[in-house]
Amino acid sequence: MTFKQKIGQLQQRIITKIDDDLKTEIKNGEVGSILVNLKVITNASIRNELQKIAVEDSKSGIPIIFGQDVIHGYKTMFPINLAQSCSWDTLAVKKAASIAAKEATTLGIDWTFAPMIDVSRDARWGRIAESYGEDTFLNSQFGVAAVKGFQGKDVSQPNKLVSCLKHYVGYGASIGGRDYQYTEISKRTLHETYLPPFKACVDAGALTVMSSFNDINGIPASANKETLKHILKNKWQFSGFVISDWDAVEQLIYHGYATDSTEAAYKAINAGIDIEMKSNTFKKLSEEKIDINILNDAVKRVLYVKLKKGLFKTPYVNENRSKKDVLTKEHKLFARKLASETMVLLENKNNILPIKNKPLTISVVGLFSKEQNLNGWWKSNSSPNDVINPYIGLLKNAPDNIQVLDKINNKTDIIIACVGEKHNTFGENHSRSNIELPNNQSKFISALKKHKKPIITVIFNGRPLNLTSEKESSDAILIAWHPGTETGNALADIIYGNVNPSAKLTTSFPAAIGHIPVFYNDRNSGRPKYDFYTKESCEPLYPFGYGLNYSTFEYQNIKISNKEISKNESITVSATITNTSNVNGTEIVQLYIQDVVGSTTRPVKELKGFKKLKLKAKESKTVKFTINTKDLLVLNQELNPVVESGQFNVWIAPNSNKGLKESFKIK
Ligand code: BGC
Repeated sequence: MTFKQKIGQLQQRIITKIDDDLKTEIKNGEVGSILVNLKVITNASIRNELQKIAVEDSKSGIPIIFGQDVIHGYKTMFPINLAQSCSWDTLAVKKAASIAAKEATTLGIDWTFAPMIDVSRDARWGRIAESYGEDTFLNSQFGVAAVKGFQGKDVSQPNKLVSCLKHYVGYGASIGGRDYQYTEISKRTLHETYLPPFKACVDAGALTVMSSFNDINGIPASANKETLKHILKNKWQFSGFVISDWDAVEQLIYHGYATDSTEAAYKAINAGIDIEMKSNTFKKLSEEKIDINILNDAVKRVLYVKLKKGLFKTPYVNENRSKKDVLTKEHKLFARKLASETMVLLENKNNILPIKNKPLTISVVGLFSKEQNLNGWWKSNSSPNDVINPYIGLLKNAPDNIQVLDKINNKTDIIIACVGEKHNTFGENHSRSNIELPNNQSKFISALKKHKKPIITVIFNGRPLNLTSEKESSDAILIAWHPGTETGNALADIIYGNVNPSAKLTTSFPAAIGHIPVFYNDRNSGRPKYDFYTKESCEPLYPFGYGLNYSTFEYQNIKISNKEISKNESITVSATITNTSNVNGTEIVQLYIQDVVGSTTRPVKELKGFKKLKLKAKESKTVKFTINTKDLLVLNQELNPVVESGQFNVWIAPNSNKGLKESFKIK
């Protein structure tokens, strides 16, 4: 390959049109990858046509890899990722990713910029919606599930996508929740909190990684040798390639880390960036000055991923798949199921929900009652027209004895207030400086009280909100998030009781914006019971792991297999969970541990496992967790993983704020 062709492999092209210049560049072997603009590449034959030039008309014959943001669906849209994690169902998240892959590959997309596994603890930050919440362990679990769903066992299959772990690393720590901002992350926090999901997903076979926009402690992530070269490529032996985020190499100039685009290019590639997205700085690299080993390594990594994806063997995609593989009945059914399993019931006074078995008139009102735009911030190729809106869903699925109105009149028995955040008030570059419902919607709900009817508040949101006012004014609160294509149907399943809600929060809902960041696995202070603010604790309004069900569950009889173990032994802990109600239900049971005293301090609790337990009415089951040495590893003062002697507490719990407690010792 010529030097120019090599550089071509390392610059991702953003195309706004297909013209002769582009075709010539492809012919010259200078276009290695394209970010698919869905307005330009509208069908698989256009994609194949470009591919044909690369493979058949260029000298090097290297296929192009086509990437796109297929984040929580392609045409069939699943709930936003934060919602998906509230299902606590890794198999479901994997399946959603595999359906997204099946649909997206019909257009000839080979590669998705997902999953995002940024641990996110700031409700103001818009991108919290794209994450799997505040916990490191959960981000690892769901990240791995998504990678497996996108890539499958063999990513070269025509219905699979190469995945891309993003944003590497620490992007969720942006100061003040301000997108793209500086991050101040101690080495300990980097290794304990932000890196583990990436390590887990690299081990699971993820083929690409995207470097993040943020500056980490003075060195931007997109030119950070420590995180890119030393940790990712050397220590973890990652063999795929790293792509910068959009324009992030050029942005090194604005960070004040490079004087011009030439310096930015050298700093990025020398630190471990293999492909730059959008910016064009790599063309400033010169054959004489670049370390040839670094250049060749980057190119090899790109070719390796293309080889793995099977692009050399099968560069073209079947142009006839889209009709039968997109937005199918089966995909929509699964989207409906997943959406209902991600809606979190926060309040249900006097068991007002579910509404069934009584002749009633319900009024579905509020800014979001007929909202179509419920596909979240990343839309891929979806259309709001395919979304079943809340009112339509409730109307069409209503049992015979329930009348559904879109306004309040004197026949109204129950009010369903649909409120929320618009799709463009969260997501990238959409942080908020307050976390109340926007547009006076809290006042709207309070005003509904004058009708003296029960109020069910359904919230379509992309971040944790301060629901102090809604808690006071509503009889029930259901967090619906942005549920995607099947919104209305899934909502009806919950409201009419065809589905018993089981989702639990993976992000704490703060009681005040001033408490942020609020997360369950904080460390104790020297005065643990101290009210940090005058007469106010920092307790969230709804804690991590919390969610109601139409069933009620009782936790009893915690047992531990051993009170004292040695460092390489495992231990089992069990408890009996009983469904004390008359309705079948699913309970998400959580396992937390605490290393009480160590060579360094530890969080008050850490999630180490969870199980989704199906329990029939009145049924009891014993749930058992095994805690292995790897679950007890902590980073010592030198940041080496060790198991330390001493006392450990363990909880089997319905949420992070409750639970049955036991303890054991490590000799
Ligand atoms: C976002 C990435 C995304 C990329 C390409 C960037 O602005 O931060 O998450 O993958 O654009 O669309």
